[in-house]
Amino acid sequence: MPGLAIVGAQWGDEGKGKITDLVAERADVVVRFQGGNNAGHTIVRDGAVFKLHLIPSGILHAGVICAIGNGVVINPRVLTEELDGLKRRGVDTAGLRISANAHLIMPYHLMLDQAGEARLGKLEIGTTRRGIGPCYADKAERLGIRIQDLLDEKILKQKIYAALEPKRQSLRPYAKDPLLDLHAMTEDYRTLGHRLEPYIADTARIVWESLDRDRLVIYEGAQGALLDIDHGTYPFVTSSNPVAGAACVGAGVGPKDIDDVWGVAKAYVTRVGSGPFPTELDGDLADEIRARGGEYGTTTGRARRCGWLDLVALRYAARINGLTGLIVTKLDVLTGIHPLCVATRYLGSEDASFDEFPYHQSIVHKASGEMTELPGWDEDITGARSLEDLPETARRYLDFVSDFVGVPLAFVGVGPGRDQIIATEVAERGVGAAV
Ligand code: IMP
Repeated sequence: MPGLAIVGAQWGDEGKGKITDLVAERADVVVRFQGGNNAGHTIVRDGAVFKLHLIPSGILHAGVICAIGNGVVINPRVLTEELDGLKRRGVDTAGLRISANAHLIMPYHLMLDQAGEARLGKLEIGTTRRGIGPCYADKAERLGIRIQDLLDEKILKQKIYAALEPKRQSLRPYAKDPLLDLHAMTEDYRTLGHRLEPYIADTARIVWESLDRDRLVIYEGAQGALLDIDHGTYPFVTSSNPVAGAACVGAGVGPKDIDDVWGVAKAYVTRVGSGPFPTELDGDLADEIRARGGEYGTTTGRARRCGWLDLVALRYAARINGLTGLIVTKLDVLTGIHPLCVATRYLGSEDASFDEFPYHQSIVHKASGEMTELPGWDEDITGARSLEDLPETARRYLDFVSDFVGVPLAFVGVGPGRDQIIATEVAERGVGAAV
């Protein structure tokens, strides 16, 4: 299995970082293929917590190449800070590679993100305000500035000028901000470019070479299927494609270079930012799940909205990603909750019901989940290391989910620690002794 994509099957924050870290020790290359520092991947290693935003989750394994692919948008200041932070903690970052074709988040992208949300007022998307949308917009407009441009001062200045001019009107509230000064910005980005230069590479070629040697390449996704700009709950989505198909574009490979696709889903659902959420809970139960699951954003610290597991959305995510393995994380958070509910259908206005994820925005906005109740468990499951170690009701919960979605389980997370995971034969078959 040389090519394995690990993607989010919900609205992000499913625990992809932990899984990637776990299987990365078997990999030659881990390559991020989309998103930017809107993502936050938390990895717990020997009690130490690492929060990564841009650097692929394999970086804790010396010898693994961690590539930031061309599909990622990079804030170079955030990246250098992340590098410094890892170095300070003794992590060897020599394996980092940055695609010369990846686009740069510029100071004006952050301002435009902020201004855009302010303009929308109550209709805001609830973005992370990291400049992601405006950066991808510039990429599509062919006004983007890429990593390779950092290496040539003249080109860099020309491109910043060309990108900045059409935005003057929207940037008027920030007109006096020193960050918008062309010369200062060019200088600043040149300095950051010098720092990043040793890591700049042809990342697609690195991936091809590993695939040609039949070595394991992990395509690491950020965010999740329901935040996909094409397939998610548009416009309450991110500006890239977190689905597995985007790994081809964002890493520079063909569809046949992805042999397996693992989708990560929590045992319940969370969402940050605005937008529809058919199984959303409020009140005490939502507070309890939030507190137990530590459901606060890695990137923005925002409290995450919490709800029951949505199997209509998960089955949809399985289809658009072509999932071959399902990973259910944070099962332990549900311990002691009775009964457990999962949405197996949506209910809309005027007695309408939907077995499949509706394509129409207004329907999704009004939908609520029709729940199937499943018995819970009270036993502490954090020490379980095989499915047989779980109480029967926990196994039934997992079987119900896997059967409904039509994808076999690869892993089940039972706690935050690296070892608090159950690997099934699907995972074992996939990456062998990695787990
Ligand atoms: P943006 O990606 O910052 O433009 O934000 C667009 C939407 O995606 C907002 O609802 C964000 O909260 C959400 N979002 C972006 N990145 C993540 C993530 O890594 N986890 C969860 N939600 C995210």
